[in-house]
Amino acid sequence: MTLTIRPLHPVIGGEVDGVDLRQPLSEDDVAAINAGMDRFAVLVFPGQELTDEQQVAFSRHLGELEMPGAVSNITKPKDRRLPPELADVSNLTKDHKVFERDDRTRMFNLGNRLWHSDSSFRAVPSKYSILSARLIPVAGGNTEFADMRAGYDALDDDMKAEIADLVCEHSLIHSRGLLGFDELSEEELANFKPVLQSLVRTHPVTGRKSLYLSSHAGTIVGWPVPEARSLLRDLIEDATRPEFVYVHKWRLHDLVMWDNRQTMHRVRRFADTTEKRDMRRTTIAGDTPTVAQQVA
Ligand code: OGA
Ligand code: MN
Repeated sequence: MTLTIRPLHPVIGGEVDGVDLRQPLSEDDVAAINAGMDRFAVLVFPGQELTDEQQVAFSRHLGELEMPGAVSNITKPKDRRLPPELADVSNLTKDHKVFERDDRTRMFNLGNRLWHSDSSFRAVPSKYSILSARLIPVAGGNTEFADMRAGYDALDDDMKAEIADLVCEHSLIHSRGLLGFDELSEEELANFKPVLQSLVRTHPVTGRKSLYLSSHAGTIVGWPVPEARSLLRDLIEDATRPEFVYVHKWRLHDLVMWDNRQTMHRVRRFADTTEKRDMRRTTIAGDTPTVAQQVA
């Protein structure tokens, strides 16, 4: 089998054929996937029916796993439905029932409907996310991906100069607060302490610059908060214009992988209090902070 990639959209996204992710990958396959990620930023692998173990084994080919846990969600270990390596992006309880409308975890997870980059609230943010569709709703629940390289390229030179060295504070406290979810315990507030991230990133392989935006970004260091938030809102709005967005309509057993360093994503609404959507994510850890120094 030869791995091939066909573009899905003019600027972002490719579909991968000719590889069985249940089998150990050759070095050539791994190299082709990484090169595809560098170019397309989002790769879709259709028809990959994986177990959790197979998803983890495949993911390990691409780097060290970032473990979900108390710094990234409010789920207590005793309430977890999935093995520790997998982020549970479903709308399901441990007993495989849909969350009640006012369930606290549901409220928290609704933050995924805002444009974001995974783990931008961690001091060392993630590299890739790998999402496997195990159950999908009959309607809605698309995932949209915006190309932050295109977002950067579209800025005028004055704006590029103004933002070149800006640093933002990112926290789950901010993104959840945007939806009015602010009932966090002392322990959660401590886990979600803001971290610093550069607003402009340079891809280590291609050298392309991109906007590092996320709904987790609550302010810009040294700026008045309202001025920072208004700029961040404008940048997000401009960078997520339809020409820069690939809309993924899920098929059962799709596996979709994206580069969090060059994209944002969001999930769209579906009937989540009646229909099941079981999505499971492995995450490849990043290797460096985006700012030289994390200030305490
Ligand atoms: C994620 C995420 C969106 C979705 O897995 O990080 O935001 O479509 N998922 O469920
Ligand atoms: Mn996400």
